Amino acid sequence: MEENILNPELVTSKLIEEEEEFHHLNNPADGIKPIIKKYLGVPNNADQQGNKFYFTDGDAKVEVVVITDEIIRVRLAPHSVFLEEFSYAVPKIEQKAVVFKLTEDEEEFRVSTGVVNCHIRKKDFFISFSDAEGHITSTDAVPMHWEENVAFGGYYVFCTKTCDSEESFFGLGDKPTELNLRGKRLVNWNTDAYSFAWNQDPLYRSIPFYISLNEGIAHGIFFDNTFKAHFDFGAEDPTKTSFWADGGELQYYYIHGPHMMDVVKSYHLLTGTHPMPPLWALGYHQCRWSYYPEAKVKKITNGFRENKIPCDGIYLDIDYMDGYRCFTWNRKYFPDPKRMIKELAADGFKTVVIIDPGIRVDDNYSVFKEGKKNRYFCRRSDDYFMEGHVWPGRCQFPDFTNPEVREWWAGLFDELVQMGVAGVWNDMNEPAVFGAGTFPDDVRHQYDGHRGSHRKAHNIYGMQMVRATYEGLRKIMKNKRPFTITRAGYSGVQRFSSVWTGDNVATWEHLKLGNIQCQRLSISGISFCGTDIGGFSGEPDGELFTRWIQMGTFSPFMRAHSAGDTKEREPWSFGEPFTAINRKFIELRYRLLPYLYSTFWEHHRYGFPILRPVVMQEQEEISNHFRQDEFTYGDKILVCPVLEPGQLSRTVYLPKGKWYNFWTYELIDGGKEIEVPTPLETIPLFIKAGSVIPEYPVMQYVGEKEIEEVKLNIYYSNYEVNSFLFEDYGETFAYEQDIYLEKKFVVSGKPSVLTLQQSLDGLYTPRYESYHFNVIGIPFTPSKILADGKDIPYSIDDNNCLEFKFTKNFKQIEILG
Ligand code: GLC
Repeated sequence: MEENILNPELVTSKLIEEEEEFHHLNNPADGIKPIIKKYLGVPNNADQQGNKFYFTDGDAKVEVVVITDEIIRVRLAPHSVFLEEFSYAVPKIEQKAVVFKLTEDEEEFRVSTGVVNCHIRKKDFFISFSDAEGHITSTDAVPMHWEENVAFGGYYVFCTKTCDSEESFFGLGDKPTELNLRGKRLVNWNTDAYSFAWNQDPLYRSIPFYISLNEGIAHGIFFDNTFKAHFDFGAEDPTKTSFWADGGELQYYYIHGPHMMDVVKSYHLLTGTHPMPPLWALGYHQCRWSYYPEAKVKKITNGFRENKIPCDGIYLDIDYMDGYRCFTWNRKYFPDPKRMIKELAADGFKTVVIIDPGIRVDDNYSVFKEGKKNRYFCRRSDDYFMEGHVWPGRCQFPDFTNPEVREWWAGLFDELVQMGVAGVWNDMNEPAVFGAGTFPDDVRHQYDGHRGSHRKAHNIYGMQMVRATYEGLRKIMKNKRPFTITRAGYSGVQRFSSVWTGDNVATWEHLKLGNIQCQRLSISGISFCGTDIGGFSGEPDGELFTRWIQMGTFSPFMRAHSAGDTKEREPWSFGEPFTAINRKFIELRYRLLPYLYSTFWEHHRYGFPILRPVVMQEQEEISNHFRQDEFTYGDKILVCPVLEPGQLSRTVYLPKGKWYNFWTYELIDGGKEIEVPTPLETIPLFIKAGSVIPEYPVMQYVGEKEIEEVKLNIYYSNYEVNSFLFEDYGETFAYEQDIYLEKKFVVSGKPSVLTLQQSLDGLYTPRYESYHFNVIGIPFTPSKILADGKDIPYSIDDNNCLEFKFTKNFKQIEILG
């Protein structure tokens, strides 16, 4: 056997003393020197129990679990004792029937599925992964290691893998930095980051999932550990990628690609997707800190209708409450909330209210009294209550990691729902505390029976809060889909909520950042995301606001929001020409609703992200690893926001294939950069040739009109392209009982004929009867149209588009030259 490079003497776990370790800077155990770090020794035994494999060096144990053909989980137990299995991120592991085996030779043990091999090297316990062709995709650079945590017990746990010279990294949630994380060191610790800056870290959410892309092959690492966690993508040493945490288990999922899309889909398989939102939640939302009193709210909502700018969501920020006490109303400002919400609803507005976690210490306040009586609030290690100041003043905080507390919290929404509230906005749930930042480390949490300090529960506190909120609303609203939005979260938060990127600033830099953040969130599991359009703090001018509306039109969640000390910030606040352009884009949002809704379905049901950076289209092109402006919205629309002031044209990369300019219908060959004019009225938008883009008529709000006809925009292509349209009731959970309709369209063009086929699958019947077809880019002069064999009339408009109508149940349409 070859010599062990790290310590030839030791065959069991090795003790290595190091004076100053880079990752140790923030450890409370600092000052206790020397730091004792233990590395895995050599594996001397392998044991199989079903899909679980155990390897030990005589003291420490490593567990390798086959989850699916593509996903393998690795866990380390320093003294062979694994923690009880529990994860807030992965609710249940669906063991898919996969074929796997353990083999052994002189060099290594090998756990293999048909797709991936996990190699456990005998000479040094290095763990690596390869694909079925034997191509190594990930390998340890040193054995897994750990340090004892003298202050709190447990271990700091470390994993270091190699980093290749051209390896790129993506993911990790909402980090406000370049899309490609290569060369960055980042930390996960949910933080209230008011007016955050480029490169500021950490922010509000912790998503310990990243995607590596190397030699054209992608794999993911999901480090499911809720403690403060650190990631280094070749920053400290360009040849190493490390991740480590200040506690918990070293537990990670290796997720094989080879495509980035495969990795994201598998990550969704583990952590879930967002449920279908109510259709209205995909419309435009207007928010401000705060719209009050009632007359002001009405002035705003009337403003939308008068200006004929569509809007569905209207928000009440903290001032609607009585002294910021959650679940109360300030009756001076809102004397009859039920009536007001009803009136707003009659005008098409859905009311969303903010609810924060801080509960005011006040013995005359029923929520506090109940929480106190039932011991629902968090306590310190010596049993004192965790107290801190937030908006209401002195507060205590529910322990949302306790299922009983979640149940109680869920029930508190009853009255709001009876009043007609349609959605809830959970904020300050990092948890944020004025002055201190957050809770002290020693605060205890029930952690669903797996007790822990705040060190363990901090990063999942916000997610458990919005989980309780969502579950409460869902129960109370019965078959109606609730809408929730949260600021803090952890992997899996998407099962319960949408998110926004927090308190950004009205600057061009933040517009750029928001574009990256939304793409990054989307490929990190959180597709239903958006920014505060216009910037939360500071003052945008009309141009910046309009450019932000244009970008926000293609954010899965579209909401304008602003701090209270700023000027009016509605889509008409900047006068012309801005109002008209804002209107045009918000109308476009509503026209494209069936497309977004279908894309959402693909997210919900199949785990596709809604926003996809260009690198996801063509990962083998190294130059694409650094593109971060352009993205696709679903898989058919390429968007490139304008991110600079006064920009009259900009460069856009079009992925390979043929694309239509959305505004001019010009057909362009992709696979290259092009220069696109960007007057304030437009942003670069391109439609993939062969697409069928469904369109609704412009509505001032979802449900304003009965949809009598759906427009299908068909973009000619000379190769076959599939498109989807998903339809259902739009606001109930009937889709969970399979009441929905999936339509598949296939477009295929020849030099003198274009064929469009439709197949239907599902149990839902939409109320409209016909489609209005609009065919773009036909390269020949049509002589007739055969719809299910029948000759039908058509017209050709000024843009040379072919228009006709036919039943929604058609099977085949042929346009003949
Ligand atoms: C926080 C939120 C912001 C909200 C404000 C008042 O700063 O991030 O969106 O308006 O609190 O509730």
